Amino acid sequence: MLAGIDIGGTKTAVILAEDPTRILFREEFPTRPDLGPEQAIEKIESLIASALALHPGLGELRLGVSCGGPLDRHRGIIQSPPNLRRWVDVPIKQILEARFGAPCLVENDANAGAIAEHRYGAGSDCQNLIFLTMGTGFGAGLILDGELYRGSSEMAGEIGHVRLTEDGPVGYGKSGSVEGWASGWGMAQFGTEMVSTATANGESTSLANIAASGQLTARDIGMAAAQGDGMARRIVERTGVKLGHALAILVDVLNPERIVIGGLALRLGDMLFEPALAAMKNEALEQSARVCQVVPARLGERIGDVSALCVAQGLSRSAPTL
Ligand code: BGC
Ligand code: NA
Repeated sequence: MLAGIDIGGTKTAVILAEDPTRILFREEFPTRPDLGPEQAIEKIESLIASALALHPGLGELRLGVSCGGPLDRHRGIIQSPPNLRRWVDVPIKQILEARFGAPCLVENDANAGAIAEHRYGAGSDCQNLIFLTMGTGFGAGLILDGELYRGSSEMAGEIGHVRLTEDGPVGYGKSGSVEGWASGWGMAQFGTEMVSTATANGESTSLANIAASGQLTARDIGMAAAQGDGMARRIVERTGVKLGHALAILVDVLNPERIVIGGLALRLGDMLFEPALAAMKNEALEQSARVCQVVPARLGERIGDVSALCVAQGLSRSAPTL
């Protein structure tokens, strides 16, 4: 029996499953970067307990936590990730193991996403695959020559921290970073600015009120863009171009066969992919760009759940046959 816990900057999900593709229980609750971990952990514990009570006697339990980094995977400690900045050195492994008497593994969410897509999604036939989370934060999981690449201090893949422009929206505490430009949080930041400049110039947009209240989210922008709002379209396009620049960096450095994108990419579709691919092709070396497919996560909105369950399963084990 696998229990996956997907901790994000906007929501946390608890999932129970016998294998990652057959989910028995799932519940989520909102999380916020400015809230501490105490209440969230209580909620996680109570959801796991209810899930187990609903599905008793299904074999030995294994727990898996998927979360933004930095984290200490070996000791199972969440080390104040940019999108959960009040989670300072939280020994989540120890807490959950003590509570449930079962082993708990902890892993970076983007690494877990790469494994999930490699095992069950868009990358099972692929040796060089990059998975990008594109949610509240922006991170990458790298599968190189068929293996998850972790790096010397297990920090490989932090593309969100890479600077694209000298100034710009803040992500990972740094202005103009990939996370600033191409995460949901970043898009809401510069989107709010674009809307306020446009409305000051007399342009009308369905986003005017929500932006003025300071509550604009990437989801609002995506919905307005899908309904044809010109301003929202321009915000998405700008995110797409910046995403394309990040893709070009990855393509030039790592020459991957496939880049799989989760989060916002699932909702924004071609409105995001078209400018992103055009920018990537403009920027990257032709020989590398030509062989790289860029696709949304095949697991779709289930990607976060399957990722956390893959952590519970163990990331180093080869794909179990279904
Ligand atoms: C973190 C990454 C994480 C990404 C997505 C970034 O802020 O540094 O480790 O993968 O957010 O959650
Ligand atoms: Na990573």
